[in-house]
Amino acid sequence: MTMLIERMSYDNGEAIPYVDSRIYSDRGIFEEEVEKIWKKVWLVAVHESELPEPLDFRTMTLAREPIVIVRGSDSKLRAFLNVCPHRGNLILRQPSGSLTVGEPSGNANHMTCMFHAWQFDCFGRCVDIPRAKAGYQDRLRKEDIALKQLPCEVAHGGFVWVSLNTKVGPLSEYIGPAFDIMREELDTEPLTIFHYHKAIIPSNYKLWHDTNSEFYHDYMHYFNRATSMQQKGYFERQYTAFPNGHCTVGSMEVKYDAYQGAQDRVLSFPGMPRNGWKMVDLFPGATYNIRGSSLRVDTMTPLGPDRVMIEFRGLGLKRDTPDEQAQRVRDHNTIWGPFGRNLHEDLLGITGQGVGMQPGSTPRRILHGRRENNTIHDEIGMRHFYKEWERRIGRSPNDPFPETQTAAE
Ligand code: FES
Ligand SMILES: [Fe+2]
Repeated sequence: MTMLIERMSYDNGEAIPYVDSRIYSDRGIFEEEVEKIWKKVWLVAVHESELPEPLDFRTMTLAREPIVIVRGSDSKLRAFLNVCPHRGNLILRQPSGSLTVGEPSGNANHMTCMFHAWQFDCFGRCVDIPRAKAGYQDRLRKEDIALKQLPCEVAHGGFVWVSLNTKVGPLSEYIGPAFDIMREELDTEPLTIFHYHKAIIPSNYKLWHDTNSEFYHDYMHYFNRATSMQQKGYFERQYTAFPNGHCTVGSMEVKYDAYQGAQDRVLSFPGMPRNGWKMVDLFPGATYNIRGSSLRVDTMTPLGPDRVMIEFRGLGLKRDTPDEQAQRVRDHNTIWGPFGRNLHEDLLGITGQGVGMQPGSTPRRILHGRRENNTIHDEIGMRHFYKEWERRIGRSPNDPFPETQTAAE
């Protein structure tokens, strides 16, 4: 083992930062991440435009907990555990819908558990327990029962943020100044979703976040090489790190027409130069990415050490005309749609890493060592993420199991 370290030489003199591949492959570490990170922090769940009307709902699973977000009759969005307090059954089973649609098992406007027909209103209050008096006498009343409500805030471009941690601090405290770079684009006027797709990839969720947090891999994207790397301003883009593991990447002007068949963007966002490009990477697994006319937001749901679901949303302005929205969709899809020129390459990259770092594979060193004065190919974004990871998990990312073999190659 020692010999290998000497041969690799990057442990001599000034150390080159690396992480141990087991942080991407070990099942025990994955379980710790679910408990110590994913169940503790604020997570992006959906966009408000996905539930526009009172009594609309969306369901999802965050860190293995089924969640439902409901727009109340007062138009406010609330998040609940989508689990019946009677005997633990899943309540709403569709990905989305409206409570105004009655179901065979219950009344319209209520969430009805199909098992024993307990009913809950849009505020999570239990409004009916069949034969309550006969079975529970006065020991249990519907007024004492409710769905578990979770912290929920709408912010940063109209996204619905949820935390499984009922003691979590305010979202503003968690985010800090990380969105300052995009404040005007996101919050001047309402946004709306025009694109959604998801990918389930046999890889670790952090590898997707790593990819979103470093630009050195622009060598993989021919489109990015032509339209950005060879253009003015690319190597001056600044990487800035913020408390709690978040990072942002400064703007540049992309020359879309440098790629044959592509066109410069005509639409934009308030405060965003046409053809601008900015990113905000959020710990532990979300990215906001504005390229000229479209905002792409990635959210990750870790499914195991070697499995992640990534949801991709594309957004424009709510006031767009149908023609403007169609233009944003075209712009979005040429680069980021499933048949675009960029995003699927990133997915192939992390799929290959997933093969190279399968559960049980020999510990390896994964380098995070580029330093270029916090400019675009500096790997400060990844290093900053793993500092926060270390703080929350209580393990060193480059030596997660000090009592056993260390990663030597
Ligand atoms: S488990 Fe829901 S009503 Fe019984
Ligand atoms: Fe990429």
